[in-house]
Parts: sequence; structure tokens; C-alpha cells
Amino acid sequence: MGYQNSFKVFLCLSVIFLFSMKIMVLEKYFEKINFTAFSIHTTKPIRKGAHYWFSQTNKHANKNITLPNCTLPPDLGPYNIQLNVPLDNEFKNERMSFGGHNKPENCIALQKIAIVIPFRNRESHLKIWLHNMHPFLQKQQADYGIYVIEQHGNLPFNRAKLLNIGYKEALKEYDYNCFIFSDVDIIPMDQRNLYRCSTNPKHMAHALDKFNFRLLYATLFGGVVAFTKEQFLKVNGFSNLFWGWGGEDDDLYKRVITAGMQIERMNNIISKTKAIPHKRDPGNEDNPKSEPLLEKAARRMYTDGLNSLNYTFIRVMKHRLYTKVLVDIGKPENIEQ
Ligand SMILES: *[C@@H]1O[C@H](CO)[C@@H](O)[C@H](O)[C@H]1NC(C)=O
Ligand SMILES: *[C@@H]1O[C@H](CO)[C@@H](O)[C@H](O)[C@H]1NC(C)=O
Ligand SMILES: *[C@@H]1O[C@H](CO)[C@@H](O)[C@H](O)[C@H]1NC(C)=O
Ligand SMILES: *[C@@H]1O[C@H](CO)[C@@H](O)[C@H](O)[C@H]1NC(C)=O
Repeated sequence: MGYQNSFKVFLCLSVIFLFSMKIMVLEKYFEKINFTAFSIHTTKPIRKGAHYWFSQTNKHANKNITLPNCTLPPDLGPYNIQLNVPLDNEFKNERMSFGGHNKPENCIALQKIAIVIPFRNRESHLKIWLHNMHPFLQKQQADYGIYVIEQHGNLPFNRAKLLNIGYKEALKEYDYNCFIFSDVDIIPMDQRNLYRCSTNPKHMAHALDKFNFRLLYATLFGGVVAFTKEQFLKVNGFSNLFWGWGGEDDDLYKRVITAGMQIERMNNIISKTKAIPHKRDPGNEDNPKSEPLLEKAARRMYTDGLNSLNYTFIRVMKHRLYTKVLVDIGKPENIEQ
């Protein structure tokens, strides 16, 4: 009896061992093949921790080596943005992992940066943005991941809510401590414009080419902003109630001031920024409700934001240059269906 039992145990263990070997082999295999295609055709969302994807590309990952802190290269300067990106010319970097994650190979970056982009029907801008921003961020020695948050359906666009969702979804993958919320059509024109967080929330799109590099009004806080995790929690994120164009950025500004912080901007030369010209998207008409909402911004901020965020996750797709999260964000409170 004793012998038979241990034989059964042995059999079980062998089966388990073989099975786990198979999984390892499969993982190795999927690393090599066209992962985009794989992830699109599976119904299950792929949510491997970013740590997994990072470790696949960092040759020091499994060695006992202490890396030095990263420093900025000395030759940062004006950046040559390419707007005409040929269809087959994708930015290539052997070390970059799927999902648009990258970190420096030979040093430790102190900030772990999630770049969150609100999105619907702007494939051509996304392509240009990715093509220019990956080299830009890598030049700045950033440890970063790109999250494109796509709103499902045709209801009015809710940029701010998508950004809140991006914050939450990114944190499921990696312990990001800096969040840069960026529109898909805004690209910096100078590498000294550091895509980093600072001691205060930072406004990074105040010198746009389309406005002659001038700040339109003093409290403008749109386009691209950077918050540490603590700063973003302190303001309870964005409001979820702004459907359609405008107002959510002014609301965020009021939150920052109400929470006792200031906003920061770098000088206009370094901050020169390109806005890719385009027509207003359908589904993003002016929000008629933004004025009344703004009047109550300070009173609303602790009940409307990250702590009241409600959405339905649909799927995540790991593309080579970015992670796209498709979500159902519901409908404006006043629309019946
Ligand atoms: C990856 O797969 C997608 C979808 O099938 C395809 O469009 C694309 O050309 C493939 N890319 C490569 C590099 O094979
Ligand atoms: C790894 O690094 C730690 C701390 O530096 C050291 O104590 C340990 O002996 C190292 N282990 C190996 C296998 O080198
Ligand atoms: C790296 O940066 C951290 C945080 O600023 C600091 O505590 C640490 O001493 C630095 N390490 C080196 C080797 O400079
Ligand atoms: C929001 O939450 C309610 C339940 O509290 C749920 O019925 C509704 O579907 C949610 N909406 C979204 C967009 O997830």
C-alpha cells in the first residue's frame, strides 16, 4: 500500500511539473510572436504585471547588481518632431516591452511614470504621438508606461473621467508614483521639458505653438499636467461630471488651489509645445453645464472624483508601443435610456 501511495504522489507531482514547464515554454513563445495579434484574438484580458514585462527586457533583472541612480544626459535640447510618420515606420527599440513600457537599462530612475491619454477615434494622432514620445522619454532616462484609455460608445466624451480611470488601471500594473495626463495631440518641442513630477502639480502645455507660445490665461491647466500620486490623491483626482468639451481642467485647477497647493510651470523656451492641428471631434461639443459645475468645484471635490469613480472595464490590449484600456464609462447623469 505504502509503495502504491507514494507512486501516486510521484505521478501527481510529475504531471504538475510537466504542466508548469509547458506554461513556461508557452510564455517564452508568446514573447517572441506578434503579441498584438495574440491579445486581440483572445477574449480574456491579458493583465500580466508590468514587472513581468520589465523583467523580460532588463538584463540585470535577475542578477545581484546595484545600479546607480539615473542622471540626465548633458545634450538635451530642441526636439525635432516628425509629423509625417510613414505607415511602416514604427519606433523600434529591442529592449522595449509590450504595452509601451520602458526603463533605463543601466540605472535606477526615481520616478515611475504612467502617461495617461484619454482617447476615442484618433488613431492617426496616436501614431504620431507614440513615434515621437518614445524616443523623447527614453532620452530623458524615464521609467515609464503608456496608457491609452478609450471611451466606448458615442455619448459625449468625458476626458476627465477617462484620466481618473487611467490612474487606477495603471496602478494595477506597477507602483507608479508620477502620473502625466496628456492629450494625444500635444508633443513637446524641447527635450529639456522634463516629463517628470515635481513638488507641486505641474502644467506642461502652457506654451503651445497654436497660441504663439503664450499662456492664454493665468489659471489655464489643460493639455498636459503632471501629478505625483500623493498630489493626485490630495485633490481626489478629476471630477467625473464633465461631459463634452471644456471645464474639467479649470475644475482641476480649483481643486489644486483648494487643497492648498500651487501649480508650477517651467519657462516658456523649454516648454514650447506642438499641438497637432485638427477639427473638433464629433461627440465632443461644448459642455453647457461646465459653468454651474465650476462654481461649485471646491464644494464638490471631496465627493466627486477618484472616490466616486464608477466604470465598467471592457478589455485591455497590449500593443507594442502602448497599453490600451477600453472602458464603458456610463452616461451623463441627466440622460435617460
Ligand atoms: C501583427 O499582427 C497584426 C494583426 O494581425 C498585423 O496587422 C501586423 O502587421 C502584425 N505585425 C507584425 C510585425 O507582424
Ligand atoms: C546580493 O547582495 C546582497 C546585498 O548587497 C549581499 O548581501 C548578498 O550576499 C548578495 N548575494 C549574492 C548571491 O551575491
Ligand atoms: C539615489 O537616490 C536616492 C533618493 O534620492 C538616494 O537616497 C540615494 O542615496 C541615491 N543613491 C546614490 C547611489 O546616489
Ligand atoms: C455604476 O454603479 C452602479 C451600481 O452602483 C451600476 O448599476 C452601474 O452600471 C455602474 N455604471 C457603470 C458605468 O459602471
